[in-house]
Amino acid sequence: MKVIASAAAKGGVGKTSIAVNLAVIAALEGRRTLLWDLDPQGASSHCLRVPSGLRGGATKLLGGKRHLDAFVQHTFVEGLDLVPADRGLRVTESVLAERRWPDRAISKLLSPVSGDYDLVVLDCPPGLGLLAEAVFAACDVVVTPIIPTPLAIRGLEQTVEFVRATGVDAEVLAVLSMVDRRKVLHRQVLERVAGREDFATVAVPLSDSVERMGLEQMPSVLASPRSLSSAALRGLWDELVVLLEDDEESDGDG
Ligand SMILES: Nc1ncnc2c1ncn2[C@@H]1O[C@H](COP(=O)(O)OP(=O)(O)OP(=O)(O)O)[C@@H](O)[C@H]1O
Ligand SMILES: [Mg+2]
Repeated sequence: MKVIASAAAKGGVGKTSIAVNLAVIAALEGRRTLLWDLDPQGASSHCLRVPSGLRGGATKLLGGKRHLDAFVQHTFVEGLDLVPADRGLRVTESVLAERRWPDRAISKLLSPVSGDYDLVVLDCPPGLGLLAEAVFAACDVVVTPIIPTPLAIRGLEQTVEFVRATGVDAEVLAVLSMVDRRKVLHRQVLERVAGREDFATVAVPLSDSVERMGLEQMPSVLASPRSLSSAALRGLWDELVVLLEDDEESDGDG
């Protein structure tokens, strides 16, 4: 089972749009996929038409008093399951702070389902705190969307440093998000990061179909499979597959 997260220090950068679509693409390819909505806003649950709310609450789950499989729901996408969001996620940081090994909380919850899924996608709330630490410790790759402005790119360094400081092996793959090629600044940033290994080759364009996801409650790669954004998201998934396979080979070597 491979684990990827969509995470960033910043809010509103496209984490959820990317997480939901990547999970759908993987499921369409036949991978048994689990999307875990870790954000109390519940945007990815909403996009997949699953009501938020966990029986007993997220505090019990993250406090280690429940098993994850009790909360798994099927979605209308074949092969894609979801752990919905819950209001209790608003106090995730304090729940984790009470645990002895907060950084192991997500890995521990995922471990019993590792035979049930090929891929887990974690949709994270913004911020770099205890939850991010626990997510990164459980992850093979962290996808971090960045709106193309020079300041946002500086923010990427924070995420990379945070991952390094936690001492985990997760790779960080930045992806430019909401790119508007009509803007000079966006084109300049695209040029500046071209060829950088820590950036995905593809960038997710500013797109009507992605923006409509919340309204139509339909992942954009299903609603508009021929759009430029869907092609970019499929390209992003292909790049991730290569990273995940490389990771497997190096695990095998070591
Ligand atoms: N490629 C895109 N084109 C147009 N709009 C987009 C795109 N990606 C995201 N959006 C819109 O931007 C807003 C934020 O996107 P999204 O919810 O995916 O970001 P987020 O990083 O998960 O936000 P939060 O930090 O609040 O969880 C949403 O209204 C979404 O529809
Ligand atoms: Mg989100």
